[in-house]
Amino acid sequence: MPRNSITLTEHILKEEQKFPKASGNLTLLLTQIAEAGKIIASHVQNSGLIDIEGKTGKKNVYEEEVKKLDEFANDTMVRVLTESKQVFALASEEIEKPFFTEITKADYVVFFDPLDGSNNVDNNNPLGTIFSIYRKGDSLLQKGKEQVAAGYIFYGSSVMFVYSCGSGVNGFTLDPSVGSFLLSHKNITIPEQGSIYGVNEGNFNLFEKPTQEFILSLKKSKPYRLRWGACMVADVHRFLMNGGVFMYPKDKSAPNGKLRLMFEVNPMAYIITKAGGMALTTTENPLEINPSELHQRTPVLLGSPHEVKNFLKFHKK
Ligand code: F6P
Ligand code: MN
Repeated sequence: MPRNSITLTEHILKEEQKFPKASGNLTLLLTQIAEAGKIIASHVQNSGLIDIEGKTGKKNVYEEEVKKLDEFANDTMVRVLTESKQVFALASEEIEKPFFTEITKADYVVFFDPLDGSNNVDNNNPLGTIFSIYRKGDSLLQKGKEQVAAGYIFYGSSVMFVYSCGSGVNGFTLDPSVGSFLLSHKNITIPEQGSIYGVNEGNFNLFEKPTQEFILSLKKSKPYRLRWGACMVADVHRFLMNGGVFMYPKDKSAPNGKLRLMFEVNPMAYIITKAGGMALTTTENPLEINPSELHQRTPVLLGSPHEVKNFLKFHKK
């Protein structure tokens, strides 16, 4: 990455200048999220050294173990978002109810998954933070297509911030010597077709028949390679860069799949579609779903147009 790359802040400011009437509030909000990402990244990287690995002994709304790092990431996001003074309400995957700040004139509502893939904490595997931003509306729950910006921070072998405000997807890598995210992946577009697929294939026997047939066709045709990191951010990032298809389909034990519409599926579907890819629940576009519950789950499949269209053919037979 050239050292003269522009910083994330410069990039967001340039984007904002395209809209002469922009107030600068979204810029402030996005840069604050990036700051939260740096703080979380630093704790993730030190988690083996400081007493931050392990469980808190609590369970979240989905009856999943809450790790200490989950709690730290959540508290950091809540604090930084509240202090930005741009957020009217925020909702976290880790908290049962949305949180209304005192800032009633603020323009934005933010949904986030503070530490995606947190089962990876104890074995030094990748993690992420996902965010999704809406303009304040009549209801807190709006369709995913109403998002004004979304993105993720990826704590991998390097730390990346990937976002879209609607026109194009750009990726920034944290340069630890500068302490800034620098533009490293300009105008990311997903390949039309890939050669990898990602799914928890341990659930294969529980999948619907058309989903099984689709997976079997991937094995036969090329064959494809299977990649599964058990962290949606890390996996979707791989598919965004290389093409192919990521899926968490419904199965007999989980008729709505596992992933959460507001916190995971909508922001990732937004990024993938802004990069030229496609997203489905099974046969519908998740971004068109009228949400009924904050923590609702949905099956999801997203990636290159070729593979996503192919999956749809199996389900429309
Ligand atoms: O947040 C849920 C999550 O950890 C995702 O990041 C990931 O894609 C998925 O669950 C992994 O699920 P499984 O444990 O079934 O592999
Ligand atoms: Mn998650």
